[in-house]
Amino acid sequence: MQEPVSSESAFRSASESALEPEATRRAAGTAESSRANRGWWDRNADEYQTEHGTFLGDDRFVWGPEGLDEAEAELLGPPEELKGRDVLEIGAGAAQCSRWLAAQGARPVALDISHRQLQHALRIGGSFPLVCADAGALPFADASFDLACSAYGALPFVAEPVEVLREVRRVLRRGGRFVFSVTHPIRWAFPDEPGPEGLSVSGSYFDRTPYVEQDEEGRAVYVEHHRTLGDRVRDVVAAGFRLVDLVEPEWPAWNTSEWGGWSPLRGNLIPGTAIFVCERD
Ligand SMILES: C[S@@+](CC[C@H](N)C(=O)[O-])C[C@H]1O[C@@H](n2cnc3c(N)ncnc32)[C@H](O)[C@@H]1O
Repeated sequence: MQEPVSSESAFRSASESALEPEATRRAAGTAESSRANRGWWDRNADEYQTEHGTFLGDDRFVWGPEGLDEAEAELLGPPEELKGRDVLEIGAGAAQCSRWLAAQGARPVALDISHRQLQHALRIGGSFPLVCADAGALPFADASFDLACSAYGALPFVAEPVEVLREVRRVLRRGGRFVFSVTHPIRWAFPDEPGPEGLSVSGSYFDRTPYVEQDEEGRAVYVEHHRTLGDRVRDVVAAGFRLVDLVEPEWPAWNTSEWGGWSPLRGNLIPGTAIFVCERD
C-alpha cells in the first residue's frame, strides 16, 4: 500500500491489505464519500466488531478509544433524565450506545449507512428501531427527537458536515442537544501510528485535502475528511447550534489498549478525540 501523504485511515483493518488500495490525499465529494464508506463499512463490519467489540461492550456508551464512558461523562445530561427521551444515534454501528440509552429508559433509534453494521446490532439484540440511511438525509420528520448523539459516526466521513449538522438540528426539538465525537483534528498532522513514529509532525494540520483509499481504477473505496478545530466550531455554528462544550478526553491510567494509532503513549501527550456538545435553542 502506498504511504498516505499525512494521516492514515484511523479505522482501516489489517485484512484490507490483501486488496491493496492506494492511499492518497485528493478531493472527494459527498456522493463519492458516501458510496465509498457504505461499501467499506459493509465489507469491514465483521472484522471491526471482532476487533473492537470487547472494548466497546455490547451495552456501553463509549465516546472514543480513550474509553470515556457516557455513564461518567453525562454529556447528554444526567442518566436519570434520559428516561422517556427520544434519542437518535447517528453512525450507530452495532448500536452499543443505543443499547445503553435503552437501559436508562430512553427511546433510542439507531441509524447507520452500513447494512452490515446494523446486522451486528440485530445480532447483539435490543428492542429499538434500526434505520439504514445516510446521515446527510435523515428519514425523520422535523422535531422528532429530544437528543441526538454520535460516537465517531458519520461526521469524520462526510464531505459536507454542515449538511449533516443541519439535518440533525432539523429533527431535534427546541432545547435539544446533539453530542458528537470525532478524531481530534490535531491527529491529522501526525502519522497514524501508535508508537514513537506517531509522535513527529509529518504533514500540515491546515491541509484539508481528504484522505482517500482508491482502487486501481481510481474509485474511492474509503474516505475520511479533515476539518481543523476552528472549522468544526464554525460548522456547528453555521448549522444553527450553540456550542456549549468541547471535551478533549485525557488518556486514563486504566486504559492499556491500543486502537489503531490511538495508544497510551500518544494519548498521554496529545489529544485523540474531540467531543462537541451542541444545543438547539
Ligand atoms: C467508527 S464507526 C462508529 C460506530 C460506533 N459508534 C462505534 O463506536 O463502533 C463509524 C460508523 O459511521 C457509519 N457511517 C459512516 N458514514 C456515514 C453516513 N454518511 N451516514 C451514516 N452513518 C455513517 C459507518 O457505517 C460506521 O458504522
